[in-house]
Amino acid sequence: MATHRLLLLPGDGIGPDIMAEAVKVLDWINANGTDRFETEEDLVGGAAYDAHGQSISDATMKIALDADAVLFGAVGGPKWDGVGYDVRPEAGLLRLRKDLQLFANLRPAICYPALADSSSLKRDVVEGLDILIIRELTGGVYFGEPKEIIDIGNGQKRGIDTQVYDTFEIERIARVAFELARTRGNKVTSSEKRNVMKSGVLWNEVVTALGARDYSDVALDHMLADACGMQLVRWPKQFDVILCDNLFGDMLSDVAAMLTGSLGMLPSASLGAPDATSGKRKALYEPVHGSAPDIAGTGAANPIAMIASLAMCLRYSFNMVDLADRLDAAIAAALDKGLRTADIMSDGLTQVGTTEMGSAIVAELDAASRA
Ligand code: IPM
Ligand code: MG
Repeated sequence: MATHRLLLLPGDGIGPDIMAEAVKVLDWINANGTDRFETEEDLVGGAAYDAHGQSISDATMKIALDADAVLFGAVGGPKWDGVGYDVRPEAGLLRLRKDLQLFANLRPAICYPALADSSSLKRDVVEGLDILIIRELTGGVYFGEPKEIIDIGNGQKRGIDTQVYDTFEIERIARVAFELARTRGNKVTSSEKRNVMKSGVLWNEVVTALGARDYSDVALDHMLADACGMQLVRWPKQFDVILCDNLFGDMLSDVAAMLTGSLGMLPSASLGAPDATSGKRKALYEPVHGSAPDIAGTGAANPIAMIASLAMCLRYSFNMVDLADRLDAAIAAALDKGLRTADIMSDGLTQVGTTEMGSAIVAELDAASRA
């Protein structure tokens, strides 16, 4: 029996609430599956700051580097609004992404049929929606230097962030987008602002050249990032894979999330390059939503994005495709039964809390596996 080592980083706010539901799924897999998952839990974000004044400790980073995969909840909250920039909760997540070199962020936006009416857009616009956003995650304005606030005299300051991309960074993320497009709708829409930004000009050139050289079988088009945001809410079903940089990907994926009914529905995978000898990738899986401190501990959080992130972990880190499919189907089945957390509730359906939703998904998984 294969054994896999997972680091669980629940983080802040609703992070621990939803992580507990992912753990229920892992317990079920350990009791019923072909593989075994060993887990270790540690602190990140504000919780880590409170414990040792850093948003992630070196010791935790070491465990993350050694683990087969990391499951991450959420970080941040008003409690830490006043802490230094370098130790703010989000810095823990950014360090994980950077130090594990998780350059490829996969954010699938799927509209479950049962949720088509929860979207702020009309049913026919979102029903059957299946988009994959590929966001570059270790470069661009998130990490570019200089990044600072400097004094320029006369009581004036200057805030500087640097948007910077090298050819290899664009090429490796574009390759991920093309490869994944081949497994689905075979279409990539590359999004940048080449009309204003030099990095956008280079992005466009590199993606175009790579497409022509290695992926001429994949349809490629280019869309300015602002237009892409507009098209996402106008007619999202025109998209298959959207390829974008770190900042545009952050924005476009929140937009895409709302199309699916709730931010509480969107999982993500952050992957590194395959290791030259073992072929294994470093990986972190997290819901796209944040820590929602206002509902933390109330039992109202939607655990679906977290559980769907675990499904992505099974799929991308352990090639357990069948189980991942069954877990995704179990989520859809719980929704089909009319179970809804508060964020996706609508008239005539059954409102449940975090733990009920998690248990219902495990029950569906269990029932389908025995059928
Ligand atoms: C996301 C989040 C993060 C980001 C924050 C928490 C740093 O918004 O994963 O989309 O900006 O990347
Ligand atoms: Mg974001």
